[in-house]
Amino acid sequence: MTASADIARAHALLAAAERVLVLTGAGVSAESGVPTFRGAGGLWRDYRAEELATPGAFARDPRLVWEWYGWRRAKVAECTPNAAHLALARLALARPGRVRLVTQNVDELHADAARQVAAELGADPAPAIPLELHGSIFRARCTRCGTRAVSRDPIDASSRETLPRCATCGGPMRPDVVWFGESLDERVLGEAFELAAAASACLVVGTSAVVQPAASLASVTARAGGAVIEINPDETPLTPYADVSIRSGAVAAVPEILG
Ligand code: OAD
Repeated sequence: MTASADIARAHALLAAAERVLVLTGAGVSAESGVPTFRGAGGLWRDYRAEELATPGAFARDPRLVWEWYGWRRAKVAECTPNAAHLALARLALARPGRVRLVTQNVDELHADAARQVAAELGADPAPAIPLELHGSIFRARCTRCGTRAVSRDPIDASSRETLPRCATCGGPMRPDVVWFGESLDERVLGEAFELAAAASACLVVGTSAVVQPAASLASVTARAGGAVIEINPDETPLTPYADVSIRSGAVAAVPEILG
């Protein structure tokens, strides 16, 4: 199929779908300037995400892990939603409850896009706020009492003593993200799998589809008879299951298939 035939097929599948699940990964934010984990520029000082985003790494060296998150947080704070985030927010607001966004991203750019588009339309952003499978880089959680704190302030990781502390009990805070070896929030995961099973189409944008359980969501839709549409410049383990694979960046492809 030609690229334009793929675009037309994806458009038709999404237009006909009663319920759509959109699953996104780091690639949807790449053109906003957020580094992906596994692509070029994915390493931070030669560390891979799997070496830093673990409870063991935090127990060994919380200062190093907070320094990495502080660096990512500062980078993400400079970024704004791109045309793909905005088009997905418009879709979810146009078909409230029937199009749901589920993201592995911790950058909150989908939520920013939801608020931006909803403000333009004078609408409630809620239908376009995604389920965050892996948490948020702008939240921290106390390792002692579980209190959560939301902040976009810079992290001072110059020493252990300057790291974020809990306002309630003074305990050490950690990023409120799901690390390798940890379980996802059961409620969030259960809802994501229900959405995947009920979807007549799953649109997968910018994920390498190697991190479970998120990577299984599209195959749940496929097994239930729904269509899978993938947007990614590269092939992924999902490609063999996809009804349509669009080899393109999200900013070019998403608005086009939704237009
Ligand atoms: P990855 O970094 O593994 O994959 C990013 C994907 O985006 C790759 O398949 C790229 O080909 C694709 N990509 C790059 N540029 C793109 C663009 N402009 N448009 C569309 N796609 C593009 O990121 P994730 O799949 O999100 O987990 O990674 C999954 C999880 O592993 C993350 O949530 C994170 C990570 O370690 C945790 O931190 C727990």
